[in-house]
Amino acid sequence: MDPIAYWNEQAGPRWVALQEQLDRLLNPLGLRAMKEAAIRPGERVLDVGCGCGQSTLQLSEQVGADGLAVGVDVCQVMLARARQRANWSALNWSALFWQADAASHPFHEDPFDAVFSRFGLMFFSHPQQAFANLRRALYPGGRMVAVCWRDLEQNPLFEVALRAAAPFLDLPDPTPHDLPGPFSLAPPGKAEQLLIQAGFAAVQCQPFEDRISVGGLEESTDFLLQMGPVVPLLAEATPCTVAQVKARLRQLLQDYQTSAGVFLPTANWLLQGISQQAA
Ligand SMILES: C[S@@+](CC[C@H](N)C(=O)[O-])C[C@H]1O[C@@H](n2cnc3c(N)ncnc32)[C@H](O)[C@@H]1O
Repeated sequence: MDPIAYWNEQAGPRWVALQEQLDRLLNPLGLRAMKEAAIRPGERVLDVGCGCGQSTLQLSEQVGADGLAVGVDVCQVMLARARQRANWSALNWSALFWQADAASHPFHEDPFDAVFSRFGLMFFSHPQQAFANLRRALYPGGRMVAVCWRDLEQNPLFEVALRAAAPFLDLPDPTPHDLPGPFSLAPPGKAEQLLIQAGFAAVQCQPFEDRISVGGLEESTDFLLQMGPVVPLLAEATPCTVAQVKARLRQLLQDYQTSAGVFLPTANWLLQGISQQAA
């Protein structure tokens, strides 16, 4: 399915419904990358694939009244949630949300000091062109900082629900890394290569790990059945099979349970580069 249609028609409404839990989960990983971006007051920052806007609002707080944080996304319903949150917060003067394809939008007409992304760079049909467009979005010397997933096997957030489903359902083949999807930048060296080809200098792609939590055992079980590659499998399954998968998932998640909730390990890449050419 075309990735833009996928986000608008399938994943986007789900992300809006689960926005609070997703923000709780992904926030520590986004903040880790944002720390590296070292955003300064007065800067113009682009947040690629901003979704429901949590990271854009955090960036707008950092740039302050003299700066601008622009969240760009293709998904209308997620942007509607992001705009609503900006209106509720005191930050609406320095946060804007644009509906556009980040792969081709002419950002270079009014360049940025920094491009940031929290898990928004993996869904381009033509990543090489998209990364080149994001490099052109920056002033010379401008920086790109992003976080993306390493492989599915290293990320129980996606993998544990599939493991729970395996005894009861036929699992699909994993999406090849050359197609858009959460793990398209997972192969070691791939994102680094894309950044270099796009004209970035001082390119770094560092692995980092962290544990993330959505809450206790019941909440984590319900949440994981609504996210990731298990969702289309369960949509086709009988209620009895869904109940079996849920019971097994609940059991598997006990391995990750602590007194503070269920904590899942994650394996990520932290991507960084500097634009070395004029837009
Ligand atoms: C995994 S979600 C991450 C959302 C948000 N950054 C977060 O961390 O909550 C990926 C986001 O990228 C957006 N996206 C996918 N392809 C895009 C494109 N070509 N241009 C802009 N946004 C895109 C999706 O609509 C979705 O909101």
